[in-house]
Formats: sequence, C-alpha cells, structure tokens
Amino acid sequence: MTWNPSSWQAFDARQQPSYDDQGELAQVLQHVAMMPPLVTAWEIDRLRRHLGEAAKGHRFLLQGGDCAERFDECRPEIIANRLKVLLQMSLVLIYGLRLPVIRVGRLAGQYAKPRSADFEGDGSARLPSYRGDIVNAPEFNPEARRPDPRRMMTAYEHSAMTLNYVRALGEGGFADLHHPEQWDLDFVTSEKLRDEYQSIVNAILDAIRFTEAVSPTPLSNTDRVSFFTSHEALILPYEEAFTRATKDGVYNLSTHFPWVGKRTNSRDSAHIEYVRGIRNPIGLKIGADMDATDLKSILDRVDPDYEDGRVTLITRFGADDIERDLPRLIEAVSASGHPVLWTCDPMHGNTEVTEDGLKTRQFENILAELEQAFDIHHVYGTVLGGVHLELTGENVTECTGGARGLKAKDLHEAYESQVDPRLNAEQALEMAFSIVRKCRTMRSKNV
Ligand code: PEP
Ligand code: CO
Repeated sequence: MTWNPSSWQAFDARQQPSYDDQGELAQVLQHVAMMPPLVTAWEIDRLRRHLGEAAKGHRFLLQGGDCAERFDECRPEIIANRLKVLLQMSLVLIYGLRLPVIRVGRLAGQYAKPRSADFEGDGSARLPSYRGDIVNAPEFNPEARRPDPRRMMTAYEHSAMTLNYVRALGEGGFADLHHPEQWDLDFVTSEKLRDEYQSIVNAILDAIRFTEAVSPTPLSNTDRVSFFTSHEALILPYEEAFTRATKDGVYNLSTHFPWVGKRTNSRDSAHIEYVRGIRNPIGLKIGADMDATDLKSILDRVDPDYEDGRVTLITRFGADDIERDLPRLIEAVSASGHPVLWTCDPMHGNTEVTEDGLKTRQFENILAELEQAFDIHHVYGTVLGGVHLELTGENVTECTGGARGLKAKDLHEAYESQVDPRLNAEQALEMAFSIVRKCRTMRSKNV
C-alpha cells in the first residue's frame, strides 16, 4: 500500500479531538502547513546516526522533559532551568559512563496528551477531557474544554519560541563547557549530591584545560552543545501539516524525534501508518499489554529496511512487571533482526495515587525499574542505550523519595503538574548519579 502524508486518514485514528467546525479546522491546517519548519532534515539525519550508535552501546540517550508543556510556561527561566538540568545530568552521564550523551528534550512541541476517557464528569457537567494545550484548556468549563483548532497555530508559535531560546542558549555562553559553574545548583539541598557534582565538574574542567594546553587548536564542541527535540506525535492533522518533502525524502519537520505513545501504538493504527512514511527516527512506547507478534509486525511496517537508528523502543512496564514482560519482547525483537535502540521509560508504569488523590511516583520504584532494565538487557545480550524521564528544572514536589526524602504528605507544597508527576531538578540529578552507579557496578562485576 502506498504511503502519503494523509494516508493515515484511512486507518483507525485513536485519541483525536473532535472538532466541531470542520471549516475552521481546514483553515488553520492550511495556515500551519505554510509555516517555516522548526528543524531541518540534516539535524534529523544526524540524530538518527547517533541513535544507531547508541543501539550498539557507543552513545547513551538522555531523553527528558515535561509530561506536557503548557503555553503559559513558555518563559525564559523555566526553559533555561529545564535545559540546565538536562545539561547537568548529561555531564554526570558523560563522565560516569565514559560515553557521549545524546540530549533530547521532551520540549518545543510536547503539547498533546492521550487520555483514558474522552469525557469527564456526567450529566449536565459532562465535558471533553483535557488533551493538552494544543487541543483545549484544563479548566473545567465548556469554553475551556472545547477543542479549538486555532490552538495548533499557538502550539507551533510556542514551540518556535521555545526552540529559538534553547538554540540561542545552546550556541552561546550558557552551554559552554568551560563554564559549567553557570549551571548553579539552586535547588540541590543535599551536600553529598553537590560535592559529587562539583568533583565531576572540576575533573571535566581539568581535562578540557589539559587538552587545550597541549593541543595547538582549541577543542571543538566544548563551547556549545547539541540538543534535539521530541514530542508525542499524537494529533495527526498537526503532524501531517509539518510533513514536508525535501530532496532527501519526506520528513516531519516539527521535531527531530517523534514518538508514538502506548495507546496509539498498534499494528493497524493510524499513528503507525503515519510514522512509517517519514524519515525521522521514530520512538515507540511499549507497555505490558504489547504482544510479541504484534510488535514484530509493527517493526516490519516501520522499519522495512532494517535501518540503524530508525526505531527506538521505549519500554514502560512498571517495576513490578518489567521482569515478566521485557524478556519476551527482547527475544521477539532480537529474532526479528530489526536493529532497535532499547531505552527505558521508568515513569509511566510506576504512577500511583496518594490518599489525598494526587498522582505521584516513588523515586525508589523509578530507579528499581531502570536498574532491572539494565540487568535484563545484560542477561539477554542486548544494550540498554538510554533513558526516558519526565522531569523539570523547577523545585516541584510531585514525586516522592530521593535525597530530600519527600513524603506523600509533602506533595502539596509545590505540586504543579496538570498531568503526570515529574522528577524535580534535584531528583533528576540524583537519578543521573544512580544510573552511573548502576553501570559502574555492572562493569566492575564483568571484569
Ligand atoms: C507520556 O510519555 O507522557 C505518555 C503518555 O506515555 P505512554 O504513551 O507511555 O503512556
Ligand atoms: Co506522562
């Protein structure tokens, strides 16, 4: 069957808003489709190569950011803090794992959310669910919850503003590895974490100074860092509008790295039909309900050429289920011959609700799933080449545990997420150290 940017329309498109004015929808999409793209095919090709190397254990993927970005959080300090925590984590990982780190933000377009129910409330108080700022607003009233196509244009504008600032920070002094002291540890209260981080920064600075002293030409790439964007490719009319033909093929130029969420990742879904035709590397979220045969057919559709870097499988089972479900899927994928990059999302299978009704995740469970993922891949001869985290650079209290020992009763202090609970900056940095500790223990056992 031939593919084109709208061929997904003949398939089962789940999790789509139902817009009440088709004329308005068409008008917005026509407008969006004329907008300049946010990223280029060259950048996307480079990311695909890097992901291919991560699959072989030569790089490590750090993918992280908000569960959902909000239009009103498109603010300089929030964007800079988010970038800062990802940079700090990547320093820890580069130094600790002795591997280049691919930094990918869930940002500059992560505005759409799949929901378990189409509606909330009942009777006269029944309203469409909040599906992310690209669709509607979270306030519980008919005006806010009406899916508004014009929000797609606003999402594009906010993505562009965010990415513009991220690029400016990445090119300029902010991301200069000579000055990591700029990435201060405002939110880190643990002395131990601060000291550990400081000693890594000092060691890196020493290494850079030494190499530059003995090398006639300055090190390239130490004054800037590369950074890629990703988001869930959920609202297909929007993704279609950014699907552009270039001389190297058809790309989605709204992001470097689109992923298909767990709820839309199935063999005959419109989402799989859509992504199979674009040249971007594709992430596929996989939960405990994924059948091994189905996964193989999805891979055959999305990766017919068995291409390095083409598919990243992001597993999210939960600390209690990973041991049951990851091995069977690894065996199926290894037998299929598709050269996938395996990464672990230890967030989405470990969500729970506190007695006061707040969604949370325990640091210990997140880490437990991640550690098991490392062990299981090792046993099965595959590589865990990355991690996918929901985190923020702010000092929120959404996940429990970690160095500050946040308890369920503390979560009210600064709970901001409208959707899933995120690691705060301190917990995120601690997670990076925990990953390093785990890998070092594994390596020392192997020698
Ligand atoms: C997400 O990444 O925010 C998400 C909804 O994940 P999943 O599709 O894995 O449930
Ligand atoms: Co989420």
